[in-house]
Amino acid sequence: MLAIDGGPPSVDSEPFQWPFASEAIRNAVSEAMSDGSWGQYDGRWTRQLIELLKHNFQTAEAMLCSSGTIAVELALRGAGVPQDSEVILAGYDFPGNFRAIEAIGARPVLVDVVANGWVLCAEQLADALTPQTSAVIVSHLHGQIADLNQIQSVISEHNLNSQQKVVIIEDACQVPGGQLRGKPLGSFCDVSALSFGGSKLLSAGRGGAILTNRSDILQRAKIFAHRGNDAFPMCQLQAATLCPQFETLPEMTEVRHRKACRLIESTSSLDELVGLNQIVDETIPAYYKIPWLLKDRTPGWSRSELVNALKAEGLPVGEGFRGFLRRSPRRCRKTGTLVNSQIASQQTIVLHHPVLLESEDTLELVAAAIHKVVTNSR
Ligand SMILES: Cc1ncc(COP(=O)(O)O)c(C=O)c1O
Repeated sequence: MLAIDGGPPSVDSEPFQWPFASEAIRNAVSEAMSDGSWGQYDGRWTRQLIELLKHNFQTAEAMLCSSGTIAVELALRGAGVPQDSEVILAGYDFPGNFRAIEAIGARPVLVDVVANGWVLCAEQLADALTPQTSAVIVSHLHGQIADLNQIQSVISEHNLNSQQKVVIIEDACQVPGGQLRGKPLGSFCDVSALSFGGSKLLSAGRGGAILTNRSDILQRAKIFAHRGNDAFPMCQLQAATLCPQFETLPEMTEVRHRKACRLIESTSSLDELVGLNQIVDETIPAYYKIPWLLKDRTPGWSRSELVNALKAEGLPVGEGFRGFLRRSPRRCRKTGTLVNSQIASQQTIVLHHPVLLESEDTLELVAAAIHKVVTNSR
């Protein structure tokens, strides 16, 4: 019997705890407390974190801030995106990215995501570009890696013939540790954003950063953030919790990747679900969420019923983002049909990443629970 009908849950949800304070993290925090550095605005931990970010993401510059949400806004401001210009983003994306564009006085322009996926479609990008376009925000979402090479070539071609040069902002908030063709995600574009929120793969409870190779971008972002003091700061204790996490990130990324592939494979026989397909080769994705699309017109349960039944089985699942299709045309320009973004907004189910660091046995229980619920919903 399904747990939602009164049966026992398939999985004990106790194991899925995140973040966990390893001994190295506890030691760093305790050191920060005992040497007095925790009280400083600019101290050894924030400085060390900036160096670790530059080293691990292979960028010339890094700036810390208070969240991924503000990191995207600082990236836009650092890139010098003019008011009243157009900024392109996917019709399905983190809601704060739309708001960041509005916050700087620019106008969001929606481009569809790839079919059966969650990331901006490079083919549809060219049609959305106008002389007013100043930037594109490209997010890697739910373990799917955007086709940055293709996006970059579309933008380079546009920039050859345009006075207003378009910058690309890579939203890498969900993918620290991931790589594309041997290069770290977050290092590809003019500027990128990271989040260190409580649920994230690198976590300080709160926090964020921007990464760039362009000193002018860093300079403008710093000037905006500086109001006599840093207006969007990260403190030494946050930085102290993050520094040791770079040691374990490569191994955790590898384990998550391996287990995500197994989980996606083990649910691929289910007619009701479409699993994740990478659209680029040679990627080591980072999995903040593992996504599925509930197939359209499947008889049986709605998405929310399915999510509730999976939650009752003990799985940490959710519905993904709401997307921007319903946003008023006064607030944004919509290009193409945005049909894939609509599907992503209405049909996505995501499983939270801590599952991927659990034992093989637990992972099998998770896969079995998905099978049980999905086949019972028919
Ligand atoms: C793609 C993406 N961008 C930005 C953010 C914002 O990060 P934060 O929660 O640190 O503000 C998130 C958070 O979930 C995200 O998933």
